[in-house]
Amino acid sequence: FPVDCEAHRGALLHFLEDPGNEPEPALGATEYLEDGLLLIHHGKVLATGQARELLPRLAPTTPVTHWQEGLILPGFIDTHVHMPQLGVMASYGTQLLDWLETYTFPHEARFSDRDWARTEAHRFADLLLAHGTTSGLVFCTSHANSVEALFEAAEARSMGLTAGKVMMDRHAPDDLIDTPETSYQESHRLLEKWHGRGRQRYAITPRFAATSSPQQLSLAGKLSGEFPQALVQTHWAENLGEIQWIRELFPQRASYLDVYDHYGLLGNHTVLAHGIHIDDGDRKRLKETGARIAFCPTSNTFLGSGLFDFRRAREAGINVGLASDVGGGTSLSMLATMGEAYKVCRLQGQTLTPWQAFYLATLGNARVLHQDHDTGSLQPGRHADFVVLDPSRGPLLAMKKTHSQTLAETLFDLMILGDDRAVTATFVAGTCQYRRPPAPAFLPS
Ligand code: GUN
Ligand code: ZN
Repeated sequence: FPVDCEAHRGALLHFLEDPGNEPEPALGATEYLEDGLLLIHHGKVLATGQARELLPRLAPTTPVTHWQEGLILPGFIDTHVHMPQLGVMASYGTQLLDWLETYTFPHEARFSDRDWARTEAHRFADLLLAHGTTSGLVFCTSHANSVEALFEAAEARSMGLTAGKVMMDRHAPDDLIDTPETSYQESHRLLEKWHGRGRQRYAITPRFAATSSPQQLSLAGKLSGEFPQALVQTHWAENLGEIQWIRELFPQRASYLDVYDHYGLLGNHTVLAHGIHIDDGDRKRLKETGARIAFCPTSNTFLGSGLFDFRRAREAGINVGLASDVGGGTSLSMLATMGEAYKVCRLQGQTLTPWQAFYLATLGNARVLHQDHDTGSLQPGRHADFVVLDPSRGPLLAMKKTHSQTLAETLFDLMILGDDRAVTATFVAGTCQYRRPPAPAFLPS
């Protein structure tokens, strides 16, 4: 191996394929190395393998970091999260539409201030990393500078994010709304500047059909037609009150999904957040168009939106990703998100295996975002974006670890009991961007 490699040693798990949702993962879908080595060269994965086989082949000067209790996984990916909503988390007592009006819109209005946007964007990027998340699809605000601020924060950390300026020209306070023309022009300018600049990519981002006029949706569709490789992100079928309102606003359209379809916003680069209250016709159309759903369990339970039917979506062949939806969501941790997804499935008599959950948060989400050639697994050539978890971190997981024998049990403990406290370190393109601070001396560690 080249002399300028770096190596990380520890238990290592990643997915090569969808493991399915049976108790045992599909054959060949996972690579698990109990004592593995991850070899990195120029920020990319060069190889993975058994430590005992690879170590003798390293140059004597190659640095090897040994994560003694560590489990190395690909960095988590979040397929739907709002950068400007950190301060909106844990807002009391409302469902979607009141929540937007009471808490979210006033908070997002603060992002017209360039310094505030910059401060929050850096805080957001650091918080993602502290939760083991290295990439994602992100809503900014309707202010172009919020997008600039986020991409600059991502770039400063070598992270690859996909993000966009929110397009919204009605049913919101004056300091948040744009116009069809300005939203098209600003989105166009930001897309040309950031899409494909380093690791950054742009997403055309109409907030949802209630806050966009037909003219704005039409221009969003036009932009998507001009840049088919850019993603499209919006919200869809989250809340019953929302759905009724859409019906009133677009009486000539057959369904909520048909609004997006009509304006040319449904394709395999489209990621629709939520998709809770939907029918088989919707599922069929998603399958036909290749549009994806971001399942946001902590948000759906926190806002009382409803239960996403994961099994039916899967059976219909829809590409489903997992997402935090902070600040509707209650945690940036994809471990906590997996745990809540499990509970949402249980409430409908369904199960979610730890294999499927960890697949979703890594390779599955990379596929949803069309970035699996770059991220989501530790196969050679991918960016070395990875997280080191400590499955016995803290008194609770440490206790549980004494009862759990198999890898499946350990993964399940992590997703049900774990969160950012289980994150030891997070690496982006081979560089450490987060290291858990040591425990205070007066506490038993
Ligand atoms: N629908 C429209 N805007 C939003 C938002 O900011 N969060 C959620 N969860 N749903 C939305
Ligand atoms: Zn959202």
